[in-house]
Amino acid sequence: MSTAVAVAAHAKVNLFLRVLAREESGYHGLETLFCLVSLADRLRAEPRDGQAITLEVTGADCGPPEQNLAVRAADLVLAATGRRFGVHLTLDKRIPVQGGLGGGSSDAAAALLAVNALAANAVPRHELLQFAARLGSDVPFFVAGGPLALAWGHGERMLRLPPLPAAPALLLQPPVGVSTPDAYRQVDAARQGAGMRGAVALDLEALQSWGSIGRLAGNDFEFALFGRLPELRRAFEALAATHPLLCRMTGSGSTILAVYRTPAEREEARQQLPPRLGRCLAVDTLAAPPPPPEPA
Ligand code: C5P
Repeated sequence: MSTAVAVAAHAKVNLFLRVLAREESGYHGLETLFCLVSLADRLRAEPRDGQAITLEVTGADCGPPEQNLAVRAADLVLAATGRRFGVHLTLDKRIPVQGGLGGGSSDAAAALLAVNALAANAVPRHELLQFAARLGSDVPFFVAGGPLALAWGHGERMLRLPPLPAAPALLLQPPVGVSTPDAYRQVDAARQGAGMRGAVALDLEALQSWGSIGRLAGNDFEFALFGRLPELRRAFEALAATHPLLCRMTGSGSTILAVYRTPAEREEARQQLPPRLGRCLAVDTLAAPPPPPEPA
């Protein structure tokens, strides 16, 4: 049996996010630009005799293991490879939970890759992507390896893009919780009677510099949520006032991202932000794909 492997499970941000029509299933189509950041959970997968999948989590409370996306991901790979061994997963959480940073999805992608590495990469890449799409809308991006991709549909269709230069950024977490289903309902409600969305033609050039991405329209959840959650709007406005290249809410919130020209500008911005707005984390955007699982 092969030895244990470990892999970093990076967080993502959405540099723009458009919510398209509500489908019959109740789910909405999406159009989004994903980017990886340096903040990461760490996942270790150790093969064990038997068929059980066990999970040990440090750093955050992630609920019952059987509902954990990383466990479900490990199960998909073990089932596809004939359940020749069991797995013990150790997850060190650093990405804030339920903040729109894709932590749970990234852990799931890391589990797909790590358990597949234990199985000598028996599951081909395209099949891992199918598993990823079954696990959730953000998971395929993490399996694809990033660091920058335009995604649409339910996140399972992607165009990987040349990376943007690594940039210093802040992640501000206002002290408000946003439930994802509720966020979609607010988008639907805000659009009642507003008609179809306008036409859009994206330009590859507009996706190749921080300045031009900053000028694109932002995140559809911002408009829908700011009216109801003044703390969220205040945090966004305070961060936008620090003159970043780009300021956006990520995913369905509540984390807000700002990207700066230099680490010094980021530090100056950080000092301007009153602590009551929320917890602030300094991260860097990634300009290269993270390394694959390694022996640990
Ligand atoms: O993907 P997740 O399980 O986090 O989605 C939670 C809820 O968010 C769904 O039940 C649905 O109401 C809404 N959703 C949606 N369109 C998507 C993703 C989620 O309407 N693309």
